[in-house]
Amino acid sequence: MSMNADFRSDTLTQASPDMRASMASANVGDDVYGEDPSVNELQDRIASLTGKEAALFCASGTQSNLSAVLSHGQRGDEYLIGRNYHILLNEVAGASALGGMTPWPINVDENGGLDPADVVAEIKEPDQHHPITSLLCLENTVNGHVQSVELISDLSQAAHNAGLSVHLDGARLFNAAIDLGVPISDFTTSVDTVSICLSKGLGAPVGSVLAGNKETIDKAFRVRKMLGGGMRQSGHLAAAGLYALDHQVDRLIEDHLRAERIAQGLSNINGLDVKQATNMLWVTPPPEVHSSLSRHLENANIKVIPWSPTMRIVTHLDIDDEAADYLVEVFQDFFSNN
Ligand SMILES: Cc1ncc(COP(=O)(O)O)c(C=O)c1O
Repeated sequence: MSMNADFRSDTLTQASPDMRASMASANVGDDVYGEDPSVNELQDRIASLTGKEAALFCASGTQSNLSAVLSHGQRGDEYLIGRNYHILLNEVAGASALGGMTPWPINVDENGGLDPADVVAEIKEPDQHHPITSLLCLENTVNGHVQSVELISDLSQAAHNAGLSVHLDGARLFNAAIDLGVPISDFTTSVDTVSICLSKGLGAPVGSVLAGNKETIDKAFRVRKMLGGGMRQSGHLAAAGLYALDHQVDRLIEDHLRAERIAQGLSNINGLDVKQATNMLWVTPPPEVHSSLSRHLENANIKVIPWSPTMRIVTHLDIDDEAADYLVEVFQDFFSNN
């Protein structure tokens, strides 16, 4: 067997002909005037799915998260966040650079979970020397790992009891919901704002939606404008999100099962450490073969993220069983000859 298969990220998916057709035929208007019916429909749908009053269509997860963080705090404030969470590590320190807010990293367990006691311990006492701790940032899934409804709720309660707001980066919240077989509102009722990406497992080309109460979304609306995110006939993009909500949510389970199928296939290989959660696999080969294995995968036209020591493999809409089995075969081939 031979093929090209790209397992680097679920952001790589390409819009299907049907999704493209619904984008092309979308009803649109000028969204800066609030007159784009497709954007308004998408925002209403996400507000309703998350049980929030209002929602805001953003260009990306980074823009949506930043609009939220800057709406919850002021210059000089501090936000608490898991030390490996995306907002802290991979969003260009936007909250510090543009909003003057400082992150305070909290240790996570091996599944990316925070301990409510650690959160409470890191909230600064009111004192003229301290920043004001105004926000807790959560994430779900974290590197594929599902954070339970109970944990999100306990963390939110601990933060709220101390007067903090809570933002949930739910870039892959639908993956968590499908994995547990619960509606996404189970994760969102306890938090103040949630950002959901349409361009990851859901397979839209662009976009994220921020949901929260009306007052916070009104603030985020102004921040989004400041960030250059006031878009015009963006209903063509929102239509892809609407299509994804209608057709590409339930199928996320296929990505999880395919990731499991790969994990099973790789589990027989001696010396390979494999961890799988939802649509992500983390594969650690013996250090002495890491670079030759990376080359072998590349030569077989398989793309993974070859981080060292642990490679990342992600399943998504454009990965079928054949591609999953090919990946396993290429790994087996390498280890039977090395
Ligand atoms: C957990 C998480 N949050 C937020 C984002 C940001 O999304 P975007 O790339 O659309 O800015 C990503 C993107 O990879 C992500 O994985």
